[in-house]
Amino acid sequence: MKQHIEQLFQNRDINIYSSIKSQTTENDRYSFLTLLNWQRNISKEYCYLEIGSHLGGTLQPFLLDPRCTYIYSIDKRPEFQPDERGRDFYYENNSSERMMEFLKQISSETEKIKCIDKSSTEIKPKEIVIKPNLCFIDGEHTDKTAFNDFQFCLKILEKNGTIIFHDANIVFNGIRKALNYLDKKDISYKAFNLPDSLFVVSFDLSIVEDSGITERIFDNYKSYLFGLETLDPYRKYAVKNKFFL
Ligand SMILES: C[S@@+](CC[C@H](N)C(=O)[O-])C[C@H]1O[C@@H](n2cnc3c(N)ncnc32)[C@H](O)[C@@H]1O
Repeated sequence: MKQHIEQLFQNRDINIYSSIKSQTTENDRYSFLTLLNWQRNISKEYCYLEIGSHLGGTLQPFLLDPRCTYIYSIDKRPEFQPDERGRDFYYENNSSERMMEFLKQISSETEKIKCIDKSSTEIKPKEIVIKPNLCFIDGEHTDKTAFNDFQFCLKILEKNGTIIFHDANIVFNGIRKALNYLDKKDISYKAFNLPDSLFVVSFDLSIVEDSGITERIFDNYKSYLFGLETLDPYRKYAVKNKFFL
């Protein structure tokens, strides 16, 4: 089994995600496994923190990875969440208990997961005892919350860690604000997007020297088009209503 898992990671086999539903695309998953492989290349063991876990879909590879020794799953579990696309999104029966039930079906290692049912602004940094190397932001899809989540991750991140946004095509103003903040503080980083909607901010400046990562960065034409295509209905609407910039 151990060998089998190693093989799946090496091949960046997105079947790792097949047991629990995730709101990610196949391209997102392949990009995620590229980042996970890079993390495995640079550290023997690592900690992963995720904001917005829902059913646990995006936790699957980290739960299955023996080198990921601790996981924080932060999810406020509200009945509905606002979204930059202008309507609320409802999540029925959303609970950490249900998520853990799903996760227990794929691994017996679930004790390495700590669930925190709060938003990042409600968590004191000292509650995060082990500093995460990788943080994933996929909670409320508003610019404001994405930026707040980023600020939180910055506070608790391991030195030279990496923060990944999901749905960059939706929370792009929050991402812009995050990068402006780093520039203003003169903090060095490498930033790039990966198919379909991941946006990576790494404080390990050597990340772009990893062959798996650079290969995937060359696929970013896919995320460029993906992002613009998701915004195309707004352009059509503006043109139809003669709203010109
Ligand atoms: C898009 S889903 C996450 C999907 C998951 N990452 C996947 O693909 O498997 C968003 C999650 O964010 C959670 N959420 C909403 N508002 C939040 C907030 N302010 N802080 C933390 N989590 C929040 C919701 O409860 C929901 O489970």
